[in-house]
Amino acid sequence: MVVGDLHMPFAPRSEEDRRKTADTMKLLFRAADVLRPDLAVFAGDQGKDDDEANMRAIIRRITAPFAAHGIPYALVFGNHDPECAIPLERQLELYAEEYDKCYTFDEVPSVTGCGNCHVLIRDSRGENDVWNLWFADSLSSHPDPKVSYYEWLHEDQIRWYKETARRVKDKHGGRTIPALWFMHIPVREEYGLLRRARLIDLPFSVRGFAAREGRRYVKKTAMPGYLGEDPACAARNSGIFDAWKEVGDVRAAIFGHDHMNEFAGYYRGILLAQCKTASFHNYTDGCHAGVRMITLDESDPSRIRTGMVHFKELGLKSESLGLIQRHFTDREVINAKAALWAAGGLALTAAAAAVVRKAIHSGGKA
Ligand SMILES: [Fe+2]
Repeated sequence: MVVGDLHMPFAPRSEEDRRKTADTMKLLFRAADVLRPDLAVFAGDQGKDDDEANMRAIIRRITAPFAAHGIPYALVFGNHDPECAIPLERQLELYAEEYDKCYTFDEVPSVTGCGNCHVLIRDSRGENDVWNLWFADSLSSHPDPKVSYYEWLHEDQIRWYKETARRVKDKHGGRTIPALWFMHIPVREEYGLLRRARLIDLPFSVRGFAAREGRRYVKKTAMPGYLGEDPACAARNSGIFDAWKEVGDVRAAIFGHDHMNEFAGYYRGILLAQCKTASFHNYTDGCHAGVRMITLDESDPSRIRTGMVHFKELGLKSESLGLIQRHFTDREVINAKAALWAAGGLALTAAAAAVVRKAIHSGGKA
């Protein structure tokens, strides 16, 4: 189970904030209870606080739904996690201290970022390694926003991946272990799943982010899921996707960061899956906040099943959402507004044309 962008505050600043936390926790507890995953993965932007005791309380709160069932977990850090006084290395220690079934660790501390690591999964008999999970820190804001809004993976991280993958392969007698890659900020290759919007698509399109401002995008057809916003990738390609192709182990990559996006599609043979926010804090998507489930087949690595399970499908009722957001996603509301504007515009044009026609007609008679 992938849990995206919780943005969990320590203490509510308002009654509305309190309700948002209540809704988010309802979702996590119900999802853990009903879906009982073998592993939960936090996809970054978990929450932040400058005080260590408060940070500890946030971590205790978000891991509690999984701790209640003894479900192990892992995490990657998002771009907002370093924006507090507690260094990521210390945050990682707090996770392990608060709920010790944490699989994420800082495999090579000298490598850029925190929590870059890999974890091998054995088959159901507990004999052979059948899958490998990679967790990577996609870093935070770029120091020069004119170059890029976000950083991209550094070369030493990619080198670490390639070298470690080679060692994993050697350890398994030259066999490539199929892998999943978890990271907060999506790769630029996600644009391969989208296309520029045509005139007819405009009401259903999303606005381009940063350098792509002024362009509009829609999801390519025949891909499950939902495009709620333009992928907010770094301006430069780190090359990690090409590294996955070169090494040949990564079958799917899962990202958070874009709270509204929940599409999943294959690009050049690798499944790129967006996990939208599971939170009601920060910007969210109405009652469609949710978790992404991934099911692997130990005997067939090409069979990866995935889909989102949303708040409303878990039979939950929101305390924090308004009447419309309780029933519709933000995208649906935007589309409905666009359709209403278009219908209104057409009606006005028709009325104006009728008035002009009448004026011409009566002018002709005079
Ligand atoms: Fe976020």
